Amino acid sequence: MAPSVHSSSSTLLTSDTDERYANVNWEELEFSLTPTDYMFVAKYKQGETFSEGNIVPYGDISISPCSAIFNYGQGLFEGLKAYRTEDKRIRLFRPDENALRMQNGAERLCMTAPSAEQFIKAVKQTVLANKKWVPPPGKGSLYIRPLLIGSGAMLGLASAPEYTFLIYATPVGEYHKVSSGLMNLKVNHHNYHRSHYGGTGGVKSCTNYSPVVKTFLEAKSLGFSDVLFLDAATGRNIEELTTSNIFIVKGDIVTTPPILGTILPGITRKSVSELARDIGYKVEERDISVDEMLEAEEVFCTGTATVVKAVETVTYKDKKVKYKTGEEALSTKLYTMLTDIQMGIVEDKKGWMVEI
Ligand code: COI
Repeated sequence: MAPSVHSSSSTLLTSDTDERYANVNWEELEFSLTPTDYMFVAKYKQGETFSEGNIVPYGDISISPCSAIFNYGQGLFEGLKAYRTEDKRIRLFRPDENALRMQNGAERLCMTAPSAEQFIKAVKQTVLANKKWVPPPGKGSLYIRPLLIGSGAMLGLASAPEYTFLIYATPVGEYHKVSSGLMNLKVNHHNYHRSHYGGTGGVKSCTNYSPVVKTFLEAKSLGFSDVLFLDAATGRNIEELTTSNIFIVKGDIVTTPPILGTILPGITRKSVSELARDIGYKVEERDISVDEMLEAEEVFCTGTATVVKAVETVTYKDKKVKYKTGEEALSTKLYTMLTDIQMGIVEDKKGWMVEI
């Protein structure tokens, strides 16, 4: 059974959203949920094509207790952002890449994904319906969360008889709001892994995320901003943080772990690699041992929510290394190059921005 959108006590009334809108502090946006007015919902039944879908009021959905997402975790999510420019345009960053990544994930989880055309159209409709929630220029962005979930009821393990493609959106600010603005990472060397060869680490499966929370909370309780996971096969190479990709810099070489199914093919990762090449850096994708990272001059991480974030320290066992940060750091240059394109401060010569 597919989820039906219904009027519940949590469905937002116009007066509620007006009041919440009036109370948003655009100067202090955080990466947290501020429900907006509308969401997009489309459904797919096995053997048919995706329904056209439509915009409905944002609110709870009703879903079978036997759904594949509840019982077996059959679900994917995406994350992308819309930005308001000074000249009053609203633009998306590389939505075609998210559409493609959802298709790759759907293939891995035996689901049917919307076409890229339907995905982008639905994202645009969601943003347009929630236009007033796109933060003013430079104050943040509208974070768009497309979901593809196995919503059909079933008991034996199989692919769901029905999927739901749903998109909601929320205005957000910085993800890692730490006082120094810099990250202090703990390398997780002693217990859990995020991913392994042949697993789902290379797709944006919902099931990749809650298992890292335990390690993340442990690191947080020790004062770290995030955890850096090592590869499960050897425990020697760096792979990924809980929600972002990692890069190291030495001289004019920028290195990041390769896409071999264990790390997420980040869209910011791909974009930042291109920008680094544009300014003369050599970008390599290959295994990076922890020891090599500890010898690097600079470390930074990337992601849609994270954007580009400098890492100030990495702690591995009893060793703590400090890296270059600030104006001279490559991550600062790359952050500016990327966000200038996203916010329309410089011309988008890459064709990355999609007008709404
Ligand atoms: C994103 O950067 O869009 C993510 O998916 C991170 C999210 C888990 C907060």
